[in-house]
Amino acid sequence: MHDTKSLDHADRRAPVAMTLQQFLDAVDTLERDATARFAAVDTADALEAARIEFLGDARGRLKDIQPLLGTFAAPDKPAAGRRFNDAKTRLTSLHAERRAALARGGPRAEPTVDLTMPARRRWQGARHPVTLVIEEIQEIFREIGFTIALGPEAETDWYNFTALNFPPDHPALDMHDTLYLGDDVLLRTHTSPVQVRTLEAYPPPVRVLVPGNVYRRDFFDASHAPMFAQVEGLAVDEGVSFVDLKATLTHFANRFFGKTKTRFRPSFFPFTEPSAEMDVECRLCGGSGCAGCKGTGWMEILGSGMIHPSVLEASGVDSERYTGWAFGMGPARIAMQRYDIPDIRLQYESDVRFLEQFGVRGSGV
Ligand code: PHE
Repeated sequence: MHDTKSLDHADRRAPVAMTLQQFLDAVDTLERDATARFAAVDTADALEAARIEFLGDARGRLKDIQPLLGTFAAPDKPAAGRRFNDAKTRLTSLHAERRAALARGGPRAEPTVDLTMPARRRWQGARHPVTLVIEEIQEIFREIGFTIALGPEAETDWYNFTALNFPPDHPALDMHDTLYLGDDVLLRTHTSPVQVRTLEAYPPPVRVLVPGNVYRRDFFDASHAPMFAQVEGLAVDEGVSFVDLKATLTHFANRFFGKTKTRFRPSFFPFTEPSAEMDVECRLCGGSGCAGCKGTGWMEILGSGMIHPSVLEASGVDSERYTGWAFGMGPARIAMQRYDIPDIRLQYESDVRFLEQFGVRGSGV
């Protein structure tokens, strides 16, 4: 088989005569070489070099053998001409294909980015209003010596009810109010079981804050949800009194809302005695009465009380020596007041149009 490369410049005008078969072989070789080269190049420059080598007008290998066509006798001429033209057409379209492919994906791609297009506004996430409220509450209590404690969301009857002094026939134990996972396992209905768990694990003095989710068999409406966050507070030591409870929670209200009026109303919980609910002046109407506070001018933010001696005993704490107080509040309710949110359901729908209002706004690219 002949190497067509031997047809160098000097031979151009006086091609070495070949038999038809030799010519056809030479075209085959040339076509194979070119096909391999076109396939191997991966830049537009390399492709152009390959094009010049095989298809170039001045010194291309195809062009080099073209003069041989004139040397064939009449019977061989058509076959030689067909093969030559056929190779030229094939390689030309192969080259065009390869060029298009490189333009599509290669580094020399035609610019497909419209540099004049305005940038898309960068979307910035925001923390959830309930998270913001919980973090603020934690910060205020941290300042006065509280640490954070956590407990499980799946609880036993004992921690959720029995140890907290609920009588066995208390309506809260009912299937209508509580989501049971099994005979003795339920989704905690409040964060108060962590009072017991904490006192079991740590001897007094204890001052902890317990954020967490709680579950009730409730439907969503404007002010209820089947799952919501609570923040529990617990302080146990020698000589702790209701005065400490009132002073601490009043301090909290003033720190959280800014100087505000507060009031304590007697209440009842099985695990505290005495018990009290704390109201702050309604933030929405400034105390004059509105739909948000049902016309009372006050909003309830927490339940609290002196820990019942039988809860201390159930937790292994000597109730003759130690006393304590506890509270539980709902940050979703507090967020409604803080951020003027009219319906609690907005806090559970994960609608970014709502949520992004709690972030840094308008920070485009
Ligand atoms: N656990 C009570 C509730 O969920 C709140 C509370 C906590 C009351 C601690 C008193 C003391 O309503």
